[in-house]
Amino acid sequence: MLTKAQTYDQVFSRIDALLSEPTDWVAAMATVVCELHHSFDTYHWTGFYRTVRKNHLQVGPYQGGHGCIDIPFDRGVCGAAARTKSTQLVHDVNVFPGHIACSSTTVSEIVVPVLTPDGKVLAVLDVDSNWEGSFDQIDQQYLELLCSRLGRDYQKEALY
Ligand code: SME
Repeated sequence: MLTKAQTYDQVFSRIDALLSEPTDWVAAMATVVCELHHSFDTYHWTGFYRTVRKNHLQVGPYQGGHGCIDIPFDRGVCGAAARTKSTQLVHDVNVFPGHIACSSTTVSEIVVPVLTPDGKVLAVLDVDSNWEGSFDQIDQQYLELLCSRLGRDYQKEALY
């Protein structure tokens, strides 16, 4: 059985191969979400929220049950990641002030901002799990690497 790090290495090789041809931002987000979602049994909801206007996120490509459509920067775990421009690693959402319960089954989550090289919040990558404490520093390290590449490669898409 593969370790979590080995699984991420494999997923990232597939993502690199799939995105090696010129690809637009929507196709890239959809591909990343699909590859991640189907590679880990802890990923119960996997998706992007994009900055569509100042201080406001809207849902993008995702897998799992339906997600909230709009999230202002001052709400929830996604909003906190966008506002602070830093990863939010939440062991138990029940003790996170202002958590948005789009799904009552979510217990832990990790939200990583996709930042452009000049510091704009292009989007956030949100992964939710129905189990407590599903994510750790290994998830954070890999997902931050992935999001920093996306922020560099698709920086022209950032409007706000
Ligand atoms: N987990 C998010 C809300 C988005 S959905 O659960 C898909 C949050 O609290 O920001």
